[in-house]
Amino acid sequence: MPDQMLDPAAGAARGHEPPPWQEYFMNDPTSLDKAMWGVLDDYEARAQREEALWDTLSNEAAAARRDEMLLPVGRATGTVLNLLVKAGEARRILEVGSSYGYSTTWLAEGARAVGGKVTSLELAVAKTEYARTQLARAGLADYVEFVIGDARASLKALAGPFDLVLIDLWKDLYVPVFELLYPKLAAGAIVVADNMLQPESARVHAQAYRERVRAAPDMTSVLLSIGNGIEVSRYR
Ligand SMILES: C[S@@+](CC[C@H](N)C(=O)[O-])C[C@H]1O[C@@H](n2cnc3c(N)ncnc32)[C@H](O)[C@@H]1O
Repeated sequence: MPDQMLDPAAGAARGHEPPPWQEYFMNDPTSLDKAMWGVLDDYEARAQREEALWDTLSNEAAAARRDEMLLPVGRATGTVLNLLVKAGEARRILEVGSSYGYSTTWLAEGARAVGGKVTSLELAVAKTEYARTQLARAGLADYVEFVIGDARASLKALAGPFDLVLIDLWKDLYVPVFELLYPKLAAGAIVVADNMLQPESARVHAQAYRERVRAAPDMTSVLLSIGNGIEVSRYR
């Protein structure tokens, strides 16, 4: 480990500024393999372009073009998901809302590390096809099973139990989706819900979700200001 990781001042003393802590750890190229970083870099470059475009669109235009966009959880939340899978050795992983596969990639890398598998639910066929291609590029295709269709129907058909769940579909569906997956949580399961703080337009649904999850028996829950804001909840 470079000494400035232990003491950021040490790097500066030798004439080069250490990067901020958060950036340093999330960009450590030795912790995840090259193929995955290449895929993540491509996703993130696309996300940046889309964000710039999004800022120029009216609310109506943005809503109409929503399915063109990745709408990813972002690197910080992706990293947290990856760490949670590994720390908890979560093998039965459920993702609700794969989109084009950004968060799926982080989860799948964790699944590979612990001998697990991701089941990822998505409505849009074209997004799933893109995700499959990227997962294959990252060498992670064997660790993900995509289920295409309305997540509510898919969830009814899935037996569970799940050790780790990411909820990241359209925000009005968080509560109904939670109702369906709650009985299928393994003891010690972690549920992460994205978009608790951003975008502002999702706040009402985010609040409803947080109230629901906190009222559920045996759930311990906390809001973390990471990425778009995540609610992290543990069952039992
Ligand atoms: C915010 S995006 C997910 C982003 C993804 N988790 C990531 O970080 O890359 C939400 C996704 O949920 C999907 N979705 C919305 N409603 C759905 C439903 N009823 N069933 C399955 N997927 C749904 C949308 O098509 C969209 O791709």
